Amino acid sequence: MKVTVVGAGNVGATCADVLAYREVANDVVLVDIKEGVAEGKSLDIWQKAPINLYDTRTTGSTNDYSKTAGSDVVVITSGLPRKPGMTRDDLIETNAKIVKEVTGKVIKESPNAIIIVVSNPLDVMTYAAHKAAGKSRNQVIGMAGILDTARYRAFLASELNVSPKDIQAVLMGGHGDTMVPLPRYTTVGGIPVTELIEEEKLNSIIERTKFGGGELVKLMGTSAWYAPGAAAAQMVEAILKDQRRVFPICIKLEGEYGIDDTYLGVPVILGKNGVEKVIELDLNDAEKSLLQTSRRHVREVMEVYDNLNL
Ligand code: NAI
Ligand code: 2OP
Repeated sequence: MKVTVVGAGNVGATCADVLAYREVANDVVLVDIKEGVAEGKSLDIWQKAPINLYDTRTTGSTNDYSKTAGSDVVVITSGLPRKPGMTRDDLIETNAKIVKEVTGKVIKESPNAIIIVVSNPLDVMTYAAHKAAGKSRNQVIGMAGILDTARYRAFLASELNVSPKDIQAVLMGGHGDTMVPLPRYTTVGGIPVTELIEEEKLNSIIERTKFGGGELVKLMGTSAWYAPGAAAAQMVEAILKDQRRVFPICIKLEGEYGIDDTYLGVPVILGKNGVEKVIELDLNDAEKSLLQTSRRHVREVMEVYDNLNL
C-alpha cells in the first residue's frame, strides 16, 4: 500500500511519521514545493526506523509527482497555516490555488487514490479538491471532525479526571467556530456525559472546543500539528485496512440532514472505498438549527471560492 502526503510542513510531516511508525502503509511519499524539505524529513523518518522498529519506506520529493504514482491514498496538507489574529477563512485565496493545482497533479499520477484534504479553510478546500479531482464524493473527503472531537474528548477527560480512551463523542458541522458538538451523543464509558458533569461546565468545554484551534495558534504563533497529523493518519489507516471506523468526516452532503450541495462534517463509516455510508442522526430542533447555522457559514465561504473563478 502506498500513501502520498502533499505538504511536508508541520501537519504533513507528522502525518507521514505516524503512518510510518504505525506501519499503516509500505510506502509513504512526502512532497513539498520547498527544495529539499520533503527529502530531508522523509530521510529523518527513515533514520528513526531502527529506533522505533518499523519498515515503512519513506521517500521525499520536491514537486516531482512521478514519485507519487500509484498511491492508494493521498493526504493534502499543502498551504498556509493561520497566524495569530487570522481566521481559517482568511487563508482561502492562497490555499484554494494550491489545493486545486496539487489535486490535479496527484490525480494524474494516482487516478484511483482516495483524497483526504487537511488544508484550511477545510470544508471549502474539500469542495475545491472534489471539483478538481472529478471523483465521487465518497473519495474526496476532509479531516477536521476527528481533530475537533479529540479536543472535546481531551478537555472532558481532564475535567472528569478519566482516561481519554473512554470518552466517545460526535461533533458535526464545519471546521470553524460554528462547529456543532453534540452532548446528547457524548458518553464516558457508556455513561451519558450529562450524568457526570454540570451543564455550565459542559457548555464551557463546548465553547473551548469551538475555539480550540485558535487557542493553540495564540500559544504557538502557528496552528497545531500533532493531533491534526495523527487524525489524518487515522483516516488513512481506516481506509487502507478497511476498518469501517465511525468518524466525523467532511463530505459533500446530498440531501442528508435536509442539506444539499454543502461540504460539512457528519458521522460516516470509513472503509476501503472511502466513505461507505453517511450516518443520519435524528437531531432535535436545537441541534438542527446549529447545523443550519454552520451550513450557512460554509456556503458563504464556498461562494467566496466560486467568485475566485479559479
Ligand atoms: P506548514 O506551513 O507547516 O506546512 C505547509 C507546507 O505546504 C509547507 O511546507 C509548504 O512549503 C507546502 N506547500 C505550499 N505550497 C505547496 C505546493 N503548491 N505544493 C506542495 N507543497 C506546498 O503548515 P501546517 O501547519 O502543516 O498546516 C498545513 C495546512 O493544514 C494549513 O492550511 C492549516 O491551516 C491546515 N490545518 C488544518 C487542520 C484541520 O483540522 N483540517 C488542522 C491543522 C492545520
Ligand atoms: C486547527 O483547528 C488551524 O484548523 C486548524 O488547529
